[in-house]
Amino acid sequence: MTKKRRSADWYGKLDKDGFIHRSWMKNQGYPDHAFDGRPVIGICNTWSELTPCNSGLRDLAEGVKRGVWEAGGFPVEFPVMSLGETQMKPTAMLFRNLLSMDVEESIRAYGIDGVVLLGGCDKTTPGQLMGAASVDLPAIVVSSGPMLNGKWQGKDIGSGTDVWKFSEAVRAGDMTLSDFMAAESGMSRSKGVCMTMGTASTMASLVEAMGMSLPTNAALPAVDARRMALAHLTGKRIVEMVDEDLKPSDILTREAFENAILANAAVGGSTNAVVHLLALAGRVGVDLKLADFELGSEIPLLVNCMPSGKYLMEDFCYAGGMPVVLQELLGKGHLRSATTVLNGDITAYADGAECFNTDVIRPFDDPVKPAAGLRVLRGNLAPDGAIVKPSAASNHLLEHEGTAFVFDTIEELKEQIDRDDLPVTPDTILVLKGAGPMGYPGMPEVGNMPIPAKLVREGVRDMIRVSDGRMSGTAFGTVILHVSPEAQAGGPLALVKTGDRIKVSASQGMLELLVDDAELSKRRADWTPEPAHYSRGYAKLYVDTVLQADQGADLDFLVGKDTRPVTRESH
Ligand code: FES
Ligand code: MG
Repeated sequence: MTKKRRSADWYGKLDKDGFIHRSWMKNQGYPDHAFDGRPVIGICNTWSELTPCNSGLRDLAEGVKRGVWEAGGFPVEFPVMSLGETQMKPTAMLFRNLLSMDVEESIRAYGIDGVVLLGGCDKTTPGQLMGAASVDLPAIVVSSGPMLNGKWQGKDIGSGTDVWKFSEAVRAGDMTLSDFMAAESGMSRSKGVCMTMGTASTMASLVEAMGMSLPTNAALPAVDARRMALAHLTGKRIVEMVDEDLKPSDILTREAFENAILANAAVGGSTNAVVHLLALAGRVGVDLKLADFELGSEIPLLVNCMPSGKYLMEDFCYAGGMPVVLQELLGKGHLRSATTVLNGDITAYADGAECFNTDVIRPFDDPVKPAAGLRVLRGNLAPDGAIVKPSAASNHLLEHEGTAFVFDTIEELKEQIDRDDLPVTPDTILVLKGAGPMGYPGMPEVGNMPIPAKLVREGVRDMIRVSDGRMSGTAFGTVILHVSPEAQAGGPLALVKTGDRIKVSASQGMLELLVDDAELSKRRADWTPEPAHYSRGYAKLYVDTVLQADQGADLDFLVGKDTRPVTRESH
């Protein structure tokens, strides 16, 4: 027996309660020594056949278990809600906070000492981290890993990114429907997450940059045997972390979040990282603000992966992965000192990293694009902020004034966008309302509205689009997202009308509605919110309590953590 562990309150008791906790576990064939006081390691698994991106996690859990046993721990795998980004309606984001509650309460209620988080698909990683951070037991991440590069007609094709391209090509008459359908099978040809630098690979990259996983976790392909070995090593490591009492609050410091913001710029990461990092910071009590994302604005784009560049995650892995990116950042003084799951400094992740393809991971002085980090925009249209991702945008649109064409709802957009007589030009600014956290609800990835069909046929591939929604991390374009407060909450976005002029300046961080205050007051007096879409259940709780995007869209009562032990027994 080593020192008394949390799990001893379940498995170390010599009374009726201990009998109950042990005896029922023994029905799975565990020997007595599994309950000898060794660390009990939860393996929190978001495996699901409805989350295809996470369908490899049952195998990886076996790797984790090997490592836990080897290090003298007792591994116990448990399922939590899984969030399949491509399968859930109205959006997986509606359920990120629900997953976080599932994770938090599962960890707290069970007799475990530390936890390995197995996630991958977009919302599963932040949902698990948020939940684990709110209990604050030792925790470490193993990600699904990306799918192998998509292949079709002899070319590499990228998850999401090429879906948007192909679908515009079909609308433009440049691609046949049968080719479009055939590309489906080649795009997703192995287990794993999107192999572009979408939200899943972004979050895995930032988890690595924050030191919440072992090095190389982000980029190793899902089906690469080395990922199984990484799972094994992670199982070994979590047992040591329990002995060291190394908790998320020791790792997820202000400096770690700054490293995530800097790394997000360098990898051309997803805009979704903003809402996830803000929500996670709220759980651990780090005072992170939307404005802090400007920290990354001068960082160049180093990773040449879709949607901002041309390669895919397999290429990123073979070029050296995140350790190389961290080394480039470190070399220019853009990596903060911060503790990792290895109980050392993050700089150790960069030690000895070697780049094997300098076109895939560019050196800091010869980047894919300069100053590529997210820009935060403010103005009378977004008093609490909005964001744009310059690396995925068209330069000429980043400074622009145009006339708004407004869709009040997503249904209106779908009905109208292909109208031949839609009164829009390439200079028009498309505006969508009702895609925010409360409005949709759940803040879906619809901010990258399709280009109107008549303009697509003229060859237009980008326009300014403004909404209170998000966009897929795999998407591209000059898309202004997360406008806060959202329309449904009565933000100024609710007051925009077709014909209004809007001014955008990424360099000045500006998003202005060029309508005078008197007129806006008049419109406000006439405004009423959309009727609620849900009258009961979790969705009602969500709408009633969700925070705005600039605060991470967490539920207000989930902010913070509760690390008190649970003292009352169940029988
Ligand atoms: Fe699951 Fe992209 S849809 S990772
Ligand atoms: Mg997505």
